[in-house]
Amino acid sequence: LQEGRLEGGNEVAVKRLSKSSGQGADEFRNEVVLIAKLQHRNLVRLLGYCTHEDEKLLLYEYLPNKSLDTFLFDATRNGVLDWPTRFKVIKGIARGLLYLHQDSRLTIIHRDLKASNVLLDAEMNPKISDFGMARIFGGNEQQANTIRVVGTYGYMSPEYAMEGSFSVKSDTYSFGVLLLEIVSGLKISSSNLIMDFPSLIAYAWSLWKDGNARKLVDSSIVENCPLHGVLRCIQLGLLCVQDDPDARPLMSSTVFMLENETAPLPTPKEPVYFRKRKYETEEQRDNLEISLNGMTMTMQEGR
Ligand SMILES: *[C@@H]1O[C@H](CO)[C@@H](O)[C@H](O)[C@H]1NC(C)=O
Ligand SMILES: *[C@@H]1O[C@H](CO)[C@@H](O)[C@H](O)[C@H]1NC(C)=O
Repeated sequence: LQEGRLEGGNEVAVKRLSKSSGQGADEFRNEVVLIAKLQHRNLVRLLGYCTHEDEKLLLYEYLPNKSLDTFLFDATRNGVLDWPTRFKVIKGIARGLLYLHQDSRLTIIHRDLKASNVLLDAEMNPKISDFGMARIFGGNEQQANTIRVVGTYGYMSPEYAMEGSFSVKSDTYSFGVLLLEIVSGLKISSSNLIMDFPSLIAYAWSLWKDGNARKLVDSSIVENCPLHGVLRCIQLGLLCVQDDPDARPLMSSTVFMLENETAPLPTPKEPVYFRKRKYETEEQRDNLEISLNGMTMTMQEGR
């Protein structure tokens, strides 16, 4: 996301879609119009879009506090994220996803949930952003396949990364990864070993299975957090990153388990698939200059 300014001075966030998305202009427009109708306090509002030849841009509301990763993975700023704030962020993301999956009239799979796609408002409420890869399911469609796997390595579920198969449960997987990152302050895409483990998931599993999950908790919060609640979050994260999509909870159960401290949590199975894999570093964000000149922004009205 980059900052932009409309004629008239309003700030917006601009997302440039890759030119090779293969999506036709009509399909693109239809999807954008549907997504723009979504309204939820944990979703960033899509304000409009621009198309020009094969260029496609999405325009979102601008949020001053930037994205979750700028706090979470910065040792000088992560002190802002005490446990109550982190827990609020986790629950907000879960509610936003639940709305996308089940509560709106449509089933929307986000497909690229990650820390940099969670923006924070002035009160540090999370808002899921970047629907550039979202797919809308109609009717009874539960699962789809794509030849072009898009998304961010590390947050992609095994069935999606390997077979291009995605469903609401692939978003659940990404949510689980994000949950483990928020509790630990560790990055899934870190190219270094984490305590001799190839990935954050393998590390989290190993600690949890040995009853040492407390060691996963970010050192900046561990002294001042309700351990029971934090450990529940780790267990929930591990439930969400299980290899078998059917074993992962729906977001409705996830929200319930987050909001009700006495709701029983199932026992997660070991996530084996990515155990031995190292994650590549996150793709470099492209720093292309974006010019809105000469493009017409559509859909400013009707909201
Ligand atoms: C978030 O943004 C608000 C409004 O700009 C600002 O007052 C606040 O200090 C920011 N919070 C953090 C943690 O940077
Ligand atoms: C919390 O979960 C417990 C156990 O499943 C259940 O008995 C209780 O009614 C739930 N509380 C709320 C407020 O939903």
